[in-house]
Amino acid sequence: MTFNLRVLAAAGTFAALGLPALAETEIKIGYALAPDSHYGVAAAKFEEVLLAETGDQFSFKHFPSSGLGGEREVIEGLQLGTVEATIVSSGTLANFVGDTGVFDIPFLFRDLSHARAVLDGPIGQEILAKFDAVGLHGLAWGEQGFRHITNNRNAIETPADVEGLKIRTMENPVHLAAFNAMGAAPTPMAWPEVISSLQQGVIDGQENPLSVIVSVKLDEVQEYLTLSGHVYSPAMLLVSKPFWDGLNDEQKAAFEKAAAAGVEAMRGYVDNVETSGVETLKERGMKVNALSAEEKAKFQEAIASAYEGYYETYGKDLVDSIVNFE
Ligand code: PAF
Repeated sequence: MTFNLRVLAAAGTFAALGLPALAETEIKIGYALAPDSHYGVAAAKFEEVLLAETGDQFSFKHFPSSGLGGEREVIEGLQLGTVEATIVSSGTLANFVGDTGVFDIPFLFRDLSHARAVLDGPIGQEILAKFDAVGLHGLAWGEQGFRHITNNRNAIETPADVEGLKIRTMENPVHLAAFNAMGAAPTPMAWPEVISSLQQGVIDGQENPLSVIVSVKLDEVQEYLTLSGHVYSPAMLLVSKPFWDGLNDEQKAAFEKAAAAGVEAMRGYVDNVETSGVETLKERGMKVNALSAEEKAKFQEAIASAYEGYYETYGKDLVDSIVNFE
């Protein structure tokens, strides 16, 4: 019997016993948040659609809640081919494809639909395609929502209120520059260390979208929530390039379809939590204030010096074309 016939015969026997066929390829998918978060919901939808499209060719093993380490480590695992897939924030993406950082510029996007249109349009897709050159394949842009500041020191209404605030930022130079310009004392830190650092008082605060604040229950370690919406937080569904290169065209099409469905589920989750999340957090005891348009403008003014750096790095034309994208 040839090797292929033996595999088919074995697969038939396994199916008769109700066991997965031998030929199944396991997809290890890692993400930083819980199964009931926007990442968990997207990963589950991605699995559901991929399995529906490809039958028993693949099986999934999920590693939620940073089960494979911080986002940078997981992305490195994809490059090495030891992990097949991940959903990550843009936190460390600029370390892999520098141009990605342009989407991390504060006050760049007007609202969610503006951001989604840019990411799904030519500017976003061109940057997504650059991941192939660094051992990764970007399947689709997802999102977390707009980031807001939480802390244990004081309510934040003006830039003076963040003066000296020990705030954790993602390991992202664009965010770091903005908080430095505001006069805060930012500390870049990988996500798995954040909760214990807040509990121990190593840092006063952090910033993340409602999707994260609600699903991680940050209200248990943070008193104040300021709806600053200072920056949009993109996410990405990535697969390992060595893994991607081993797929045939039909399988690749199934992955693309599944990724689109996963992102749709993620954005649906974000839409929902952006409207219901504030009430939930107030009920859980957080002291919440929203920045008015005038208050936000003061923060924009405070980071004007950081904008000079962003123009230098990414080009004013690109930044303007994102801002003016209809
Ligand atoms: O703040 C971060 O590092 C990210 O937003 C998180 C929570 C890991 C989700 O990707």
